Amino acid sequence: MSEVEDMENCVYKNPNEPVEARIRDLISRMTVKEKIGQMTQIERIVASPSAIRDLCIGSILSGGGSLPFEKAQSSDWADMVDGYQKAALESRLGIPMIYAIDAVHGNNNVYGATIFPHNIGLGATRDSDLVYRIGVATALEVRASGVHYNFAPCVAVARDPRWGRCYESYSEDTEIVRNMTSLVSGLQGQPPQGHPKGYPFVAGRNKVVACAKHFVGDGGTDKGINEGNTIASHDDLEKIHMAPYLDCISQGVCTVMASYSSWNGNKMHSHHFLLTQVLKDKLGFKGFVISDWEALDRLSDPQGSNYRYCISSAINAGIDMVMVPFRYELFLEDMMYLVESGEIPMARIDDAVERILRVKIVAGLFEYPMADRSLLDTVGCKLHRELAREAVRKSLVLLKNGKDPKKPFLPLDRNSRKILVAGTHADDLGYQCGGWTATWAGTSGRITVGTTILDVIKEAVGDESEVVYEQNPSPDTFAGQDFSFAIVVAGEPPYVESGGDDPKLIIPFNGTELINSIADRVPTLAILISGRPLLIEPWLLEKIEALIAAWLPGSEGSGIADVVFGDYEFEGRLPMTWFRSIEQLPLHARQNSYEPLFPLGFGLTINGKKLSN
Ligand code: GLC
Repeated sequence: MSEVEDMENCVYKNPNEPVEARIRDLISRMTVKEKIGQMTQIERIVASPSAIRDLCIGSILSGGGSLPFEKAQSSDWADMVDGYQKAALESRLGIPMIYAIDAVHGNNNVYGATIFPHNIGLGATRDSDLVYRIGVATALEVRASGVHYNFAPCVAVARDPRWGRCYESYSEDTEIVRNMTSLVSGLQGQPPQGHPKGYPFVAGRNKVVACAKHFVGDGGTDKGINEGNTIASHDDLEKIHMAPYLDCISQGVCTVMASYSSWNGNKMHSHHFLLTQVLKDKLGFKGFVISDWEALDRLSDPQGSNYRYCISSAINAGIDMVMVPFRYELFLEDMMYLVESGEIPMARIDDAVERILRVKIVAGLFEYPMADRSLLDTVGCKLHRELAREAVRKSLVLLKNGKDPKKPFLPLDRNSRKILVAGTHADDLGYQCGGWTATWAGTSGRITVGTTILDVIKEAVGDESEVVYEQNPSPDTFAGQDFSFAIVVAGEPPYVESGGDDPKLIIPFNGTELINSIADRVPTLAILISGRPLLIEPWLLEKIEALIAAWLPGSEGSGIADVVFGDYEFEGRLPMTWFRSIEQLPLHARQNSYEPLFPLGFGLTINGKKLSN
């Protein structure tokens, strides 16, 4: 049989052969160079067809905001990804590459995609089935863009709201986070009964490879410093931060991303005990472990950063795929040196490549390497936007409703004569979506398709009602005006990762003063758009009629109008403790002296009844 015929009929390309047989066959054909190539993930910006083909690059990613071009739509993405895939399939063994993206609240890089509430808002819903359905919708919108691999869910247990990634966490409470790992099954599909423990699972071409991140303890760092140090006993690390990974693994999660952070001073990316002995050996995880962005570069040795030392310690600790993402020639060169010198044993390389190939084969990439354009109609479709609207409704937490509990302020009367809408976040789609939207850190303005809070208030009120919008009302705004009430929407600008670390947590843009100045003149509902609890002065809380925590609701502002005008009841409960003062932090339930402004699980219904925890 000629080599070409052999290749066509070979085991690894045959979907009827067992996965493990396909892996063994393919590995037996691979050179060391091809194996190392498969362990390499590079950013699209540096991904040339020749590099992908000749170096057998295993994966390409779009970092946050790394688009084909501004406001690129799904079909543009599919064209781009298919272009890279074509090059990968031209490699000697034709191993498809896997394309990855952070679709952490919908396919948030793609213009026109449905943008769901960020995780902190989903944690407020306590609704595991809702999160599962969001995963199903997200998988469709991601595959429609040709992308195979989603760096989600973040299963961080955020223990301090000063952490810049608090909004990427579902909760400070481990059990709530565990409940929300249903996103894995939504994204990948649900494994059948009897599916082998720890074995990766993907249900077909409408599903994506998921990634539980960031292993482990990313949300527990001292003072909430991003990429910092989690000081905890082994028992607490397991009970608080590791538990959600068991749920992800039991759902067949295909990949786990290591955390930049450290545990008791030891960096996670070079932690052999946790990455290999615990995650792979004890918990039986058989997918692959991927590094975070340039995380190996940050593993400098005591004498200063020696990249070879960083690579060797990370790969030998159990990292299987490296998100380089730019200096891949140097990475490949150093890897080859380390393998030839024996510093990285061939057995470790083979284990990593087996895991990577297992995920690619399970994901059907050899059978369906290219984008499925029939999914394009799912992007931003009515069904998904209604789902996002439901999520917004269920995420809203009512913290106060009326100065006199017997006289609830909400629901608002949609037929009121004159309504004042004010605040930096009342008419800003970018602000209500937050970070990881359109760009890495997020931005202000009409960044995608969606409805702002002002849009939906105007739609909701009666024909006889007048809505006056002033972002920052002056005394003249009130002169001779008889407003029935004011809705003031304040909060945080978008931010991401360390850019969001905040030791003070004061409502930005002078939000406290703005709400105060309006509440002095008109009965006021304050809505906070934020990725976490913020400082609320007791006198301000006293002065306003009602207060809603809306988190980062995403593109469907309509969910807010649904509830404030009484079409739906409030269901949201705090996923994080609402502290009284910064000095109390870190402050979370089950602590001895626990005197928050609002406790974990707090939430009111319209008629003032406290929702159960
Ligand atoms: C970032 C984040 C990680 C993300 C990755 C790729 O630094 O830490 O959550 O998945 O890089 O964008």
